Amino acid sequence: MRIAIIGGDGTGPEVAAEGLKVLEAVAEKVGFRYETKEFNLSGDRYLQAGGDPKFPSIPVIHDSEIEELRTFDAIYLGAVGHPDIAPGILEKGLLLKLRFTLDQYINLRPVKLYPGVWTPLKDKGPDDIDFVVVRENTEGIYTGMGGVQYKGTPQEVSTQMNCTTRFGAERAIRYAFEFCRRRNSRKRMVTLVHKTNVLTFAGDTWFRAFHEIGEKEYPDIKRDYNHVDACCMWFVKNPEFYDVVVTDNIFGDIITDLAAIIQGGLGVAAGGNLNPKGVSMYEPMGGSAPKYTGKKVINPIAAIAAMAMLLRETGSHTGNAQLAEAGNRVEAAIMAVTPMMKSQAAAQMGYSTTQVGDLVVRAVRQS
Ligand code: IPM
Ligand code: MN
Repeated sequence: MRIAIIGGDGTGPEVAAEGLKVLEAVAEKVGFRYETKEFNLSGDRYLQAGGDPKFPSIPVIHDSEIEELRTFDAIYLGAVGHPDIAPGILEKGLLLKLRFTLDQYINLRPVKLYPGVWTPLKDKGPDDIDFVVVRENTEGIYTGMGGVQYKGTPQEVSTQMNCTTRFGAERAIRYAFEFCRRRNSRKRMVTLVHKTNVLTFAGDTWFRAFHEIGEKEYPDIKRDYNHVDACCMWFVKNPEFYDVVVTDNIFGDIITDLAAIIQGGLGVAAGGNLNPKGVSMYEPMGGSAPKYTGKKVINPIAAIAAMAMLLRETGSHTGNAQLAEAGNRVEAAIMAVTPMMKSQAAAQMGYSTTQVGDLVVRAVRQS
């Protein structure tokens, strides 16, 4: 297996290093070989190459670099975001660019409360908080279609289009149903989240695709629908109700931050940008955390969970049982370590970044 490493900005390289330590331990344990190559695609590189901090002026990543990334089995990303660079330049120039160009059409976000992790939801525990959000990752209002006219005048007009295709909705929906079968939980249910009472065009495309595909191809799986606003209430009130959620790009972005806090926050939450037939990219949900950079106090659990997902999903996409087993072992090791930590918040873990990584490595070796 060949993995491309993009440490990125701020604390990104620190947490990625812990994930790589765990990878080394589990590869030895399970007995597989791998190779890694680092790519410097940081905000610092953009600035040093003469990039303007205020507007996108030169590529954050070059086409030749994307072509090289394409040849890897997986990409492991630390964090994107630089305090001296205007919001959007790196996010669009690197993260969204890779998602779109590599056609990573699924954003997979497991929402699992690990043992011993604090949740702000009263009376809810690990048995209640265990579901998965499948977010469409290449369409919706993220495509950048639209524009601005009469900018800076009182007549300023801006549009930002919701680009929804039947094709895009269908592939996300099928992925969600397949994932639900693979999860095989007692609930066996996929919930579509949209806003069909207002978005009567795009929502309707999703709604019909969901029910037509579900009825014809997945009669064994229950179908459920939530408006996105109501879904936010239910995530808080009855998280135990959910099994697999499928939704469009922006709704998925928003509800997965809500989901992240109920699973213990950005120190824990991991995500995968998936192209099941191409190259997928795995990342901790947290940002680059400039104020903690270099202090070794940031929580690496999310990055280690992203590594677990990288192994499990790469194993599942390629039919490699050894990798899938390695992913499961890493997740089990995380679950052995979280009860030992004081908190999942940065600087409050009771351990440093590297100590948490060492604890997971030890748990992998002992498994
Ligand atoms: C995420 C992030 C990104 C998104 C940002 C950084 C562009 O919030 O992965 O959820 O909106 O998709
Ligand atoms: Mn987000």
